[in-house]
Amino acid sequence: MASLQPRPVQPADGLAWITGASSGIGQALARRLLDEGWSVALTARREAELQALAQHYPTERVLVIPADVADAAAMMAALARIEAESGRPVALAISNAGVWQRMGLADFDAAAFQHVMAVNVLGTVNMLAAVLPGMRARKRGQIAIVASVAGYLGLPRASSYGASKAALIHMASSLRFEGAESGILVQVINPGFVATPMIAANTAAKPFIISAEDAALRIERGLRRTGFEIAFPWPVIVLLKLARLLPWRVFFALGGLARRRSG
Ligand SMILES: NC(=O)c1ccc[n+]([C@@H]2O[C@H](COP(=O)([O-])OP(=O)(O)OC[C@H]3O[C@@H](n4cnc5c(N)ncnc54)[C@H](OP(=O)(O)O)[C@@H]3O)[C@@H](O)[C@H]2O)c1
Repeated sequence: MASLQPRPVQPADGLAWITGASSGIGQALARRLLDEGWSVALTARREAELQALAQHYPTERVLVIPADVADAAAMMAALARIEAESGRPVALAISNAGVWQRMGLADFDAAAFQHVMAVNVLGTVNMLAAVLPGMRARKRGQIAIVASVAGYLGLPRASSYGASKAALIHMASSLRFEGAESGILVQVINPGFVATPMIAANTAAKPFIISAEDAALRIERGLRRTGFEIAFPWPVIVLLKLARLLPWRVFFALGGLARRRSG
């Protein structure tokens, strides 16, 4: 059956705008897109890191646009700057900025929970609210939202992070339905463990961990296709998707066992 989804955008359609480009997956993906011929707008709060990346590329192909994704007005202003300074629209929006926070029953904290939601969920909402009017008017665009396999189901001590990523997967799948009439391709990116500063302090076992460069390669490949989910590495994806099918009793029994074994 022919896909009803729009085609992936091309560098000729406009810029790629990526949040969280100052480190980890976002930085590696920005580099990869630049190497593939895209003009890229880089957003994060740390301008020096963005400048350090930008200096390796021709100035006409890279824009440094520092902003806090949790600030809706700042994200609107960031888009206006990108389009004014480049004279071109944003064709590919990659919402990648995120924060990780360990949180279970013992360290449950409302303010910390709100911060995770403000950056991971509302940060994405703010980017989408900025780019959607233009993409809808042009009937062309591509939106890729970095969630996580942690959003598939509740994992130990991931109550805030996992909930934020579940919200993103839910939001992306809901928006995906209107692809055919809007001309906008919506995708979700669900990585397993990727070696970045985000998880450097996490001392738990990190099975099947891959480098940020490897993750960027897999993401860039997925962005060239129309599939909804870009997820990796496959053993983690298969395991967690199977776990979703288990009755809750079995899921908690097996999860408890794994938790005790990993300490
Ligand atoms: N690493 C993993 O194992 C893994 C697995 C699955 C999903 N992910 C997801 O992948 C994405 C990238 O994470 P990473 O692993 O590459 O972590 P990272 O190296 O810590 O990068 C996080 C990025 O988000 C930016 N950021 C954080 N808060 C922000 C804010 N309020 N406004 C703007 N930018 C902000 C940071 O830049 P500034 O500090 O300069 O603002 C940084 O560029 C996240 O959404 C994360 O949840 C990671």
